[in-house]
Amino acid sequence: MKPFTVVIATTIVVIIVAIAGVYAYAWSGLYDIGADSHHSRPVAALIGSLRNHSIDRRAKDLTPPNLDDPALVQAGAGHYAGMCAGCHLAPGKAENGIRKGLYPHPPTLTRFKPEPRAAFWAIKHGIKMSAMPAWGETLDDGTIWSIVAFLQKMPDLSQAEFQDMVAKARGAVGGPAAPAGAGSAGAPARATSAAPPAAR
Ligand code: HEC
Repeated sequence: MKPFTVVIATTIVVIIVAIAGVYAYAWSGLYDIGADSHHSRPVAALIGSLRNHSIDRRAKDLTPPNLDDPALVQAGAGHYAGMCAGCHLAPGKAENGIRKGLYPHPPTLTRFKPEPRAAFWAIKHGIKMSAMPAWGETLDDGTIWSIVAFLQKMPDLSQAEFQDMVAKARGAVGGPAAPAGAGSAGAPARATSAAPPAAR
């Protein structure tokens, strides 16, 4: 056999053995799939990098509407309170039972303003192997942008300001009604809003 052929053959055998090893590990049941057993640092870093790059690549060409539009922010407050605060908290909202056991842990969205395009994409499409749902299954793009607009304001709001906005959003014509059980396992009906049409 020529040296080149030996190299190719050896490479193929090594790849087959490596793939078989990965499958054997999966079948062995040795991996702990429990959410209370956290990833090692290198694995967590790898998954985090994969998630961030995947979202950035898909979100970079989105065109947000005017996120400072008060009507848009207002509409988003009502949707957020009904569908998101259970996992991501809100001004004045105390820690709860569902958040504690979620892994990956839902970020506390009262603490920072997520980059709007990336936030829109993550909200619309969800994040695999995490509790973050794909809200594009139930919400239109305009509604999702309204939530993104609200997320840019939420860290600056007091509890009273937040509650006031939610009350106004719920009272508004066509405003969202909080779906039963929303924020946890609830399946909200498709919400409509006065938000501008999809900007993609
Ligand atoms: C059942 C729990 C749950 C609900 C309900 C939920 N999320 Fe999440 N969300 C998560 C988890 C868990 C993550 C983290 C996923 C990860 O890091 O891989 C996440 C991630 C996100 C992120 C990405 C934040 C970042 O790091 O940039 C945004 C933005 C977000 N959620 C917004 C929302 C909004 C808005 C809603 C409501 C429409 C919502 N989420 C409802 C669990 C939830």
